[in-house]
Amino acid sequence: MNHDSYFSDSSTHNKLSFLISTRQEIETWKTGRNLASGLPNPDFFPLTEATFTLNNGKVLDISKDLIEVALQYTLPDGIPQLVSQLTPMVAELLAPPHMEERMVLVTAGSNAGNYIIAKTFITPGDYVFIPEMTYPQIHILLRSVNARMVPVAGDQDGMRPDLLREALEKSSDGRSKLLYIIPHGDNPTGITLSEDRMREIYSLACEYDFLIVEDDPYYFLQYDKQVRSSFLSLDTEGRVIRVDTFSKTIGAGVRLGYITADQPFVKKLMIQHALIMSHASPFSQVVTSELLSSLGREGYIEMNKNNAMKYKQLRDMALQAATKHLTGLCEWRKPDGMFLWLKVLRLEDVTEMVIQRCFKRGLFIVPGCEFLIDSTQPSPYIRVSFSMISQDSVDKGFQILAEAIQEELKKAAPEI
Ligand SMILES: Cc1ncc(COP(=O)(O)O)c(C=O)c1O
Repeated sequence: MNHDSYFSDSSTHNKLSFLISTRQEIETWKTGRNLASGLPNPDFFPLTEATFTLNNGKVLDISKDLIEVALQYTLPDGIPQLVSQLTPMVAELLAPPHMEERMVLVTAGSNAGNYIIAKTFITPGDYVFIPEMTYPQIHILLRSVNARMVPVAGDQDGMRPDLLREALEKSSDGRSKLLYIIPHGDNPTGITLSEDRMREIYSLACEYDFLIVEDDPYYFLQYDKQVRSSFLSLDTEGRVIRVDTFSKTIGAGVRLGYITADQPFVKKLMIQHALIMSHASPFSQVVTSELLSSLGREGYIEMNKNNAMKYKQLRDMALQAATKHLTGLCEWRKPDGMFLWLKVLRLEDVTEMVIQRCFKRGLFIVPGCEFLIDSTQPSPYIRVSFSMISQDSVDKGFQILAEAIQEELKKAAPEI
């Protein structure tokens, strides 16, 4: 595949600065002969050591040497210690074909990852295919690079390949550059794509020659049956760019994620990354890397599976409360991820109701219109996050929602 043909006009000629491109080996920075870089002198750093206590009682000691790494500049793809932990983890979890031809780039979370992908690949006017209802940051981002967004509707199994084909056919007056998709526990619908569905979509990517960006923060949050593979697992042609994050596993405050893709793509992404933020915070990278070392790869995966069981209990609590209060008023499916996606029956739009009736009574939920390209359009959907609920909050919350819907229905069809 000709990787160069996918880059945006603006990124085609981007290259790393002299200093960054010659920083091959971090170790060489420490020799007395490094008279090139404007590195702060570690002898003057105010911190020397750190200790973190894990929730299993273990203690992480961050040594003086690591504190020096944490407080120093690093390479644009991340501190070598973390990159060398993530590469085998992607290989083990997702078994992508030709992993040796791919690279991992540590980013400041998925949003930052998605941003550098958009800048690197999208030329104004390029077509980008997205789920009909999706993570709103993506609309803002794609608008900012003047992409032509094409929404593709789905069914209970996620994006429909036949509608994607239709959309691709209709977009023949421009370049169909990429598809953005959330494969597991979608935001907002909670749907996990089956492997068959992924295969159908992937084969369209090969046929119509576009890239797939899979943004997968909810990979571990699958509850009833697990689809452990992803688009990257199917990617024989090197057209998948995978975006991972530690936000839902270690914590959103570490602001760390990682992109896995073919090496020529990652090298170009790295330039964009260096341009915007030099690299993700080495401080966070050191702590995350030490945490991964302490847990071990298996331990980290186990921790996520244990947390998934706890999230499943919260999901089931939300489902029970929905059955109690919303039966006959809403429809929903058992979701993966963090969100229950409610369809309010007999109402065309719930935006006013959510703002005027729910917010005013202290119930904060997201009206479905927020997930559309044009958020002024009507939507009967509501996104409820169950990641932090208690029995009391979800019970009272759904009671308020039921009352609000009933009031709205009465207003729409007052009794004669
Ligand atoms: C689909 C999707 N992508 C990206 C993000 C943001 O992730 P991060 O915290 O890694 O930037 C979220 C967070 O809610 C999300 O749902």
